[in-house]
Amino acid sequence: MIQIRRLRSLFNNSLTWSFFFNRRFSSQPARLDGKIALITGAASGIGKATAEKFISNGAKVVIADIKEKLGQDTAKQLGPNATFIHCDVTKESNISDAVDFTISLHKKLDIMYNNAGIACNTPPSISDLDLAVFDKVMNVNVRGVLAGVKHASRVMIPQRSGSILCTASVTGLMGGLAQHTYSVSKVAVIGIVKSLASELCRYGIRVNCISPFPIPTPFVIEEMVQLFPRVEEAKLEKMIFDLSALEGTVCETNDIANAALFLASDDAKYVSGHNLVVDGAFTCFKSLNFPLPDQNTIHGES
Ligand SMILES: NC(=O)c1ccc[n+]([C@@H]2O[C@H](COP(=O)([O-])OP(=O)(O)OC[C@H]3O[C@@H](n4cnc5c(N)ncnc54)[C@H](O)[C@@H]3O)[C@@H](O)[C@H]2O)c1
Repeated sequence: MIQIRRLRSLFNNSLTWSFFFNRRFSSQPARLDGKIALITGAASGIGKATAEKFISNGAKVVIADIKEKLGQDTAKQLGPNATFIHCDVTKESNISDAVDFTISLHKKLDIMYNNAGIACNTPPSISDLDLAVFDKVMNVNVRGVLAGVKHASRVMIPQRSGSILCTASVTGLMGGLAQHTYSVSKVAVIGIVKSLASELCRYGIRVNCISPFPIPTPFVIEEMVQLFPRVEEAKLEKMIFDLSALEGTVCETNDIANAALFLASDDAKYVSGHNLVVDGAFTCFKSLNFPLPDQNTIHGES
């Protein structure tokens, strides 16, 4: 007991403790033992949750993000199996360098998760579309993803193996859920996955994406603050969670990390070209919102 207490005192935060505990005492085999992952946009939100999940399942992770300080802090928090590299996905050379850095540090790249993305904050009508903003969003959300797949393939093709993941969105599946620019960018991510899986399957490389339902990460909260400037953050979070179609639960970053873990692991060894939608059934139906039936009228007894 005293030893456990001493060990606990070695870990100065609960996150590190939970990593240690999961890795040391979990009865489940680590699903990514020995794997090396590079995740873009991993300083916060979905990317950070996925980095944490991958590490607790035996992987070493390189966190690539444009936010230097936050990225450094995240890597420190996730422990010795996380390393940060500054990377702006709009610069191909930064992505190329991040891949080369991963190879020089770990000698291989098993998993590339192209997750970095931005919101668009454009006016809702197509007639007011600002094409400069469109170009900026496409540069990060589409070109950045494509460049990530390109440079991951550069090192994975000679390995004859690898798992490439991308973050799409439910807004890429249906119109009307986000501004056009963002929706178009996420449709394109789903397209990238299908197109590139067709080539890369020849080299044993799987390419998949995940389409999350809205989650109150910094990215979404910043957008909501602009829409509802007088509403406090906790209320904005609740507004997002209240959108859940699935009774009794809400969509969280950990749900996306679990989907990423599945797709990255050998459990998904024959899954490629797939868009894993994590939305609690939201995009699979529309309701005919009839008024509640008046039993008397229906049975002609009025
Ligand atoms: N949160 C949601 O509701 C939601 C839903 C569907 C899809 N997504 C997608 O999930 C992905 C992750 O977003 P999140 O919700 O975790 O938000 P987030 O803001 O927590 O994380 C996004 C990260 O991407 C980084 N980033 C932004 N531009 C970059 C650039 N040019 N180069 C490198 N890194 C950059 C940011 O610094 C940040 O750390 C995005 O692609 C987003 O479009 C989010």
